[in-house]
Amino acid sequence: MVEGGLPGGMHPDVEKAFELWDIDSLYPPQRDSMEPIANGENLVVAVPTAAGKSLIAYVAILNQVFRGGKALYVVPLKALASEKFHELRELSKLGVRVALSYGDYDDDDKRLESYDVVVATSEKADSLLRHRSKWLMNLKVIVSDEVHLLNDTGRGPTLEVILTRFKQLNPDAQLICLSATIGNSDEIAGWLDARLISSDFRPVDLKEGVLEGNCITYADMSRSEIASVTGNTLTDGIIDGIKDGTGQVLVFVNTRRSCESSAEQMARILPEHLSDHDLRDLNDISHKVGRSDVKIIKKLKRSIMGGTAFHHAGLSNEQRSLVERGFKDKSIKVLFATPTLAAGINLPARRVIVRDWTRFETWNPRSPIPILEIKQMFGRAGRPRYDPHGEALILARKPEEQDVLMERYVWGKPEEVLSKLGSRPALRTHLLSSFATNYVRDLDEMWEFIRSTFYAFQNDTWKIASDVEDILVFLKSEEFIRDEGGKVVSTDLGKRVARLYIDPLSAVVLRNALNAEPKKLTTFSILHAISHTTDIKPLFVRGKDHDHVSEFMYSHEDELLLPIPEDQTEYEWYLNSVKTAMFLMEWIGENSEGIEASEDRIETLFNLGPGDIRSKIDTAVWMLYAMRELSRLFGKGMAKTVDLVSMRVEKGIKKELIPLISLKGIGRVRARRLYDAGLTDLDIMRRASLKKLSAVEGIGKQIALQVQNELRSDGEPIEEDEDEPEEDNGPKQSLLFDFA
Ligand SMILES: Nc1ncnc2c1ncn2[C@@H]1O[C@H](COP(=O)(O)OP(=O)(O)OP(=O)(O)O)[C@@H](O)[C@H]1O
Ligand SMILES: [Mg+2]
Repeated sequence: MVEGGLPGGMHPDVEKAFELWDIDSLYPPQRDSMEPIANGENLVVAVPTAAGKSLIAYVAILNQVFRGGKALYVVPLKALASEKFHELRELSKLGVRVALSYGDYDDDDKRLESYDVVVATSEKADSLLRHRSKWLMNLKVIVSDEVHLLNDTGRGPTLEVILTRFKQLNPDAQLICLSATIGNSDEIAGWLDARLISSDFRPVDLKEGVLEGNCITYADMSRSEIASVTGNTLTDGIIDGIKDGTGQVLVFVNTRRSCESSAEQMARILPEHLSDHDLRDLNDISHKVGRSDVKIIKKLKRSIMGGTAFHHAGLSNEQRSLVERGFKDKSIKVLFATPTLAAGINLPARRVIVRDWTRFETWNPRSPIPILEIKQMFGRAGRPRYDPHGEALILARKPEEQDVLMERYVWGKPEEVLSKLGSRPALRTHLLSSFATNYVRDLDEMWEFIRSTFYAFQNDTWKIASDVEDILVFLKSEEFIRDEGGKVVSTDLGKRVARLYIDPLSAVVLRNALNAEPKKLTTFSILHAISHTTDIKPLFVRGKDHDHVSEFMYSHEDELLLPIPEDQTEYEWYLNSVKTAMFLMEWIGENSEGIEASEDRIETLFNLGPGDIRSKIDTAVWMLYAMRELSRLFGKGMAKTVDLVSMRVEKGIKKELIPLISLKGIGRVRARRLYDAGLTDLDIMRRASLKKLSAVEGIGKQIALQVQNELRSDGEPIEEDEDEPEEDNGPKQSLLFDFA
């Protein structure tokens, strides 16, 4: 039984979960949360990193699920969704059914109805609300993890809108919001009618400080010398962090490039500090990364062999998981990471070093990173169950920086969270979705909705009145909504666009493209049109490829669906979308080589890693889907053509490989090899001998057998081998905003 017992109102079976987790006593903020949870109150839990916030949410979930209720757990990132899903799935031992849902935003995902707990990204939750999935109205608990991200320009407004909607539509559901320590958690609690649990408690002692020269100065001004091994402060700080053989160091840097180069440099120094056992484990991990000609993968393998690794969005999900696992297992001693992904997930380290405290923003190339974010990075150090204590250091590059960093990041208090819903793109998207899904039916209801947002809780709404006015004019003139006897109703277009989960501006671009009559309609025409939508983050044209991209554009001028702009800034943006389309053309073999570009060719031409390719392809497939749907809506008859392009982009193939790709285990690389070996269609393959099939590079006997079994519709399977790795057949589920 958990020490002190649980309050009377709590469902008695919740105790069983504590046995499962092997937890017999609660941390103080957890204890303080039990009574309000049992009473069904809303909670905002604003406590430091690693203080066990998840457990508070899990208890609230179980307390309702054991009474037959359902719960939704909303997280900002796909990576975090997977982590929470795996933690929650442990509860299946208590009969709790847990589902993970992300991607495919044009789907009401009915299967989710049969689960007790659904873990979803904010975008997915928003899209489910837009589809008016009925079970959402029966939810008994809604958890919002990392709720301080209301402050985030990209994701904040979506999170704000879903919380506002739930508050309106399902006011009886218990809201549990988990937040980092922020300047105004009381304000969020006020907005959500929630009890605030705030505390400075941290189960594992975390010493914060500044690393400068060969000295660490901690928050209490005590100092500790580190040995000068290499003469470089960062390197010495890292070596000091692992010197006793059990510690690990996580270093945050602000660019991918320095992530990679620092890891490689470290890998040259580190092996002398590693045991034979470590080296064997590292060899295993590096082996699992697989063979590849892609430079970034080669770098990763070299780094891992030297006990270090890097972690950023250029790596694929699989590669990142390998790195995360290697670090959690303590085989990888030093990890260099960009903050976006790493700050959200459990990457425990004895010592965290933040190397860069500025980052590039368009308005300031050396913009200081907010305290809130630095504290999140600090918080990766000293996690319960992993380390007995933690240290979080920020690197000063010169003595004068020491005091500034101490004051701002060590002693400083995190900023206040400010609503970002007032931005035009956010208003445009969310106002349309409000009308289109009938959540608001006239201007009064629209203002009522706006008044119940966090934005309105913090600001006077007159500040956005003229922006709202402009957006209504835009939505009307582009025929997304219209007035009808005092009501605002959305048109079929408006409804479709809201459910497609695309920016109304993207829909305007796609509509213009569908209405165009180019001299030649080609694959490039379509790929360029989707690349020009606002939902696609384009590839930027740098000075050196300016001529090459514009040359390409003019040589394909007849195929363009959207006119080349006169205005200089718009022209530059247009070139970016041409470059993005050029990448997609390479991917599907519409290039000078006449063959699907390999990952290393794409890396050389566009500087994109496997993870970038994946996320760009996912978004492109999504926009192609939107274009197909809009073509149907407008009766343009282009749906089939767009579908074909979409299938090719999804798989990364020329048209001729389509039949081969339908086979299990055959992706773009193997399909190309089969085709080039003369096995150009399924009939020829059916007739081919096992020997011939197996002899094709990258196929081998097991896959050849599997293919033959699949092609032989009559006989018994020859033999099955389940261990054969499946070739990656392109993206599985699309995600628009993750890994931005
Ligand atoms: N009462 C407890 N006793 C022992 N360990 C606990 C307890 N509560 C939580 N933990 C462990 O503490 C670790 C950190 O918890 P959790 O991930 O919930 O932190 P968090 O507060 O969400 O931090 P972050 O802000 O970094 O997300 C987990 O490994 C969890 O199993
Ligand atoms: Mg957490």
